[in-house]
Amino acid sequence: MIAVSESLKGRHFTRVADWSGAELEAVLDLADELKELQQRREEHQLLPGRSLGMIFQKPSTRTRVSFEVGIAQLGGFGLYLSAGDLQLGRGETLRDTATVLSRYLDALMIRTYAQDDVEELARHASIPVINGLTDASHPCQALADVMTIRERFGRLEGVRVAYLGDGNNVCASLMVACAKLGMPFVAATPPGYAPDDRAVEIAREADGSVELVQDPREAARGADVLYTDVWTSMGQDEERERRLRDLAGYGIDAELVRLAGEDAIVLHCLPAHYDEEITEDVLYGPQSAVWDQAENRLHAQKALLALVMR
Ligand code: CP
Ligand code: NVA
Repeated sequence: MIAVSESLKGRHFTRVADWSGAELEAVLDLADELKELQQRREEHQLLPGRSLGMIFQKPSTRTRVSFEVGIAQLGGFGLYLSAGDLQLGRGETLRDTATVLSRYLDALMIRTYAQDDVEELARHASIPVINGLTDASHPCQALADVMTIRERFGRLEGVRVAYLGDGNNVCASLMVACAKLGMPFVAATPPGYAPDDRAVEIAREADGSVELVQDPREAARGADVLYTDVWTSMGQDEERERRLRDLAGYGIDAELVRLAGEDAIVLHCLPAHYDEEITEDVLYGPQSAVWDQAENRLHAQKALLALVMR
């Protein structure tokens, strides 16, 4: 059985900002090992009998399935908890919910709107709390993103990441992860869609090279990684028409990929909207690493669970 370090046991993973570059790399190292074991169908039940609760207040394909399958592959089991079916939806406090669920579960994942709610849950839980996406961040996605980049380039240091489109939750977590791992980051966004100021500040405080521009072509030139995400995130559906207008011209198409060069890869956290933020030919094209990236959610999160759960 592979050895797992004890040093991260009990830790929450609510924001990339709270983890050091070395800690993030420890997750990636274990994720690579677990990926190999899984591919060889070799046993790696690092969390026998452990339970992971998963509260969802928004829809999910990847996060739900990768966590649920991931904990099962580790010998434990996942419990899908629709937020609307919990007493939380009828006004039970986050504190009471965290206190009670800590008596049953070994870890808790939550996908919700407010980052503060995840932090509050973590403050009151005696088990690790993992952020499965909020309006402000998507740290588990960032783990799979950097795992995929390292897998493709064999290194992280110095790899240039260009994010195009809406400077949203996915952008914020990726930017901070890049900063912590020595990867220069540039975001090309239209006016009004720049990444959150606080996230930029955190990335720069971590010595990250963060550039904010408006021209997608400027960002794409010399980039090793072209990254994009949906223009209308969950909870923003009423803004869809305005967003489509404002973000037109910021999608990744074959021409933009050519500007980055033939060694560049394309990433997208998914779900994708063809001919908005990305074209179908790029998504399925030779430079797309999107499907590996989606698969890596499984391996990266298994590593995270194995490291933080007791
Ligand atoms: N990328 C991602 O988090 O996908 P889901 O919304 O399907 O979980
Ligand atoms: N920014 C998107 C990511 C989906 C995984 C959203 O929040 O809906």
